[in-house]
Amino acid sequence: MSFPKNFLWGGATAANQAEGAWNVDGKGASISDHNRAGSRTSSTRRTFDKVINTDEYYYPSHTGIDMFHRYKEDIALFAEMGFKVYRLSIAWTRIFPNGDETEPNEAGLQFYDELFDELIKHNIEPLVTISHFELPYHLGETYDGFLDKRTIDFYERYAVTLFKRYKDKVKYWLTFNEINFGTLEHGKRINGLFNREYTVEEQYQALHNVFVASSKAVIAGHAINPDFKIGCMLAYITMYPKTCKPEDVLKTQEANDHLNYFCGDVQVKGKYPYFMTRFFKKENIDLKSSSEEMALISEGTVDYYTFSYYMSTCITSDIDERNDKTGGNLFGGVSNEYLETSDWGWQIDPVGLRYTLNQIYSRYEVPLMVVENGLGAFDKVEADGTINDDYRIEYFKKHIEEMSNAIDDGVNLIGYTPWGCIDLISAGTGEMSKRYGFIYVDRDDEGNGSLDRTPKKSFYWYQKVIETNGAEL
Ligand code: BG6
Repeated sequence: MSFPKNFLWGGATAANQAEGAWNVDGKGASISDHNRAGSRTSSTRRTFDKVINTDEYYYPSHTGIDMFHRYKEDIALFAEMGFKVYRLSIAWTRIFPNGDETEPNEAGLQFYDELFDELIKHNIEPLVTISHFELPYHLGETYDGFLDKRTIDFYERYAVTLFKRYKDKVKYWLTFNEINFGTLEHGKRINGLFNREYTVEEQYQALHNVFVASSKAVIAGHAINPDFKIGCMLAYITMYPKTCKPEDVLKTQEANDHLNYFCGDVQVKGKYPYFMTRFFKKENIDLKSSSEEMALISEGTVDYYTFSYYMSTCITSDIDERNDKTGGNLFGGVSNEYLETSDWGWQIDPVGLRYTLNQIYSRYEVPLMVVENGLGAFDKVEADGTINDDYRIEYFKKHIEEMSNAIDDGVNLIGYTPWGCIDLISAGTGEMSKRYGFIYVDRDDEGNGSLDRTPKKSFYWYQKVIETNGAEL
């Protein structure tokens, strides 16, 4: 295996899916706190309630896996696995409960100070996502989120507060989780568009404002500490043409440009790619953007590129074939007869990871990190209390092999943080039963269970992988 000596092995979580304590110590409600639990089989997956009704419904983020109170125990387990890095997000609403305050909430800042100290004590490098589906609800309700340019300033104030406070504790930052979700109709909510129906123009205007916010944060962060490494984060949905029919290939290229390349081009290259002009024209979109904003986008480019990779999908130009659907992260597609699927219908494709790493690296030539990857699966606790998740080990083994191949290809891959290194709430469905972790958490889909932590078989396997720097899989 070809992993460099200082390769950043670790794991990833997000505040709204792990912390709980949703209204503790002055924390405000985020958009995620308004998400009621759903299920794999429900057509809506989750319900977004404008008014939280805890008397009648269960809101999984309110308790998460109670990491807010148990982070020391969790970090000790990460350290036992040998983590070099831990990706977590800061809950914006712990720092600015409504988002538009001028002064931060000291209790929230203190919480992360202590958490970072705990990581540093264990020699684990924090990798912080500044915004991971956790926009303050108030910003959406009052300003239509990022549709209003004032939200750019609120985000900048929040980011600068973090940079100044943690400048000696955190080096690696990501501005927005899966920023390309904002190109999808059902991704509008993460940017705070949930009060009414919005036009496609408004959707892309909000996304443009997110780009500006990200660039301002990158510029401010580098001024505060030139050693900061500030990255972008995209959901990379690898796409193949269903057939070699030229129309399928073209359609795939178009979807890939739009979903995978557009946001990366803006954040890494500092400009809108040429193909967006065609799209904006077709959709009659006229973005409100000044030359100052375009200059910020050009100046505030990221230092490295990170992405989530779970699956791949196929694209077809044939209307009849489109019913042959497969599930997916943010975005499904047409099935691939050569791939198996997870319990949730996501197509498992390790070779696709090598292909993807090469695709991204050849386009941007900046350091890459895979900051989410993993298998959401049902786990069974045996009578003796063990969890023998060989299927998860198999998934990781194959993906790690392909990362090693990509490094051999010449890709500058610097780290790997599998998603949900400890079981947590699913973002898509709100379920606990969709488990990703090396560590089992005793909690069910309705919120029952002791929340006790138990290492799974994969825990010891991953420990060995890290110990041998990927040599023993
Ligand atoms: C990514 C998100 O979309 O995929 C995570 O960044 C999410 O927040 C992960 O949890 C897996 O998706 P899901 O729906 O299985 O939780």
